Amino acid sequence: METKEVIYNGESVKIFGTDNPEEILVRFTDNITAYNKIKKAVIADKGRLNAAISAMIFGILEHRGLRTHFIRQISDTELLCRRLDVIPVEVIVRNVIAGSMASRLGLEEGLVPETPVIDLCYKNDDLCDPLINDYHAVALGLLTKEELGAVYDLSTRINDILKPLFGKAGIVLVDFKIEFGRLPSGEIVLADEITPDNARFWDSATGERYDKDRFRRDMGKVGDAYRTIYEKVSEIAADI
Ligand code: CDP
Repeated sequence: METKEVIYNGESVKIFGTDNPEEILVRFTDNITAYNKIKKAVIADKGRLNAAISAMIFGILEHRGLRTHFIRQISDTELLCRRLDVIPVEVIVRNVIAGSMASRLGLEEGLVPETPVIDLCYKNDDLCDPLINDYHAVALGLLTKEELGAVYDLSTRINDILKPLFGKAGIVLVDFKIEFGRLPSGEIVLADEITPDNARFWDSATGERYDKDRFRRDMGKVGDAYRTIYEKVSEIAADI
């Protein structure tokens, strides 16, 4: 497919305009970064695995009636998606305490809260995506109160769909970060990606981690972990 301007030149994802103004092309790369890009590496085949994982997960969500920006996969590493007005808020859904929530609150990783926790972060690289609350999000004009309600509702629905599917496949969906955008109609839909780059997946039986923490924490076998999630998601998608 012919691509036009570069819309976003990230490390692990690059986004291009297409000859259709309503569509974009999302290309996944083999680059991996952590700690605000201080730590960088290349993981062979990650781009292909992540493109397939995100395409399958978004396909499952669409199949369950949840609108996303995903249209179709057009090559091994490229997805065609709807162009959105992206809301500059990162939503983190947590089923198990890990990462920054564990360190911020002095909690042990692995603790299961009584209900899932949803965090909001202001999407701003210069500020390292600070944690914000509902009042900040609305007061900063990032989205309206009604849109925030829709974002919480969609985030909960996404978790309610994905958590049991991964559970059946022997994987704990520990947490995941998602983003949303507005269609020209104003409808809010899921954007971004769901992959081991922005979600935590633990083996239900052994606790083994199959996500970017293997890279962040120098645990090795990063590519193998992404491949495991690719295989699990393929199984889940085949069952739908
Ligand atoms: O990953 P870290 O411990 O720094 O932050 P977290 O708040 O525990 O991250 C929760 C989940 O969101 C993890 O699955 C992260 O990979 C993901 N995340 C992300 O994809 N992008 C961010 N800017 C922050 C978190």
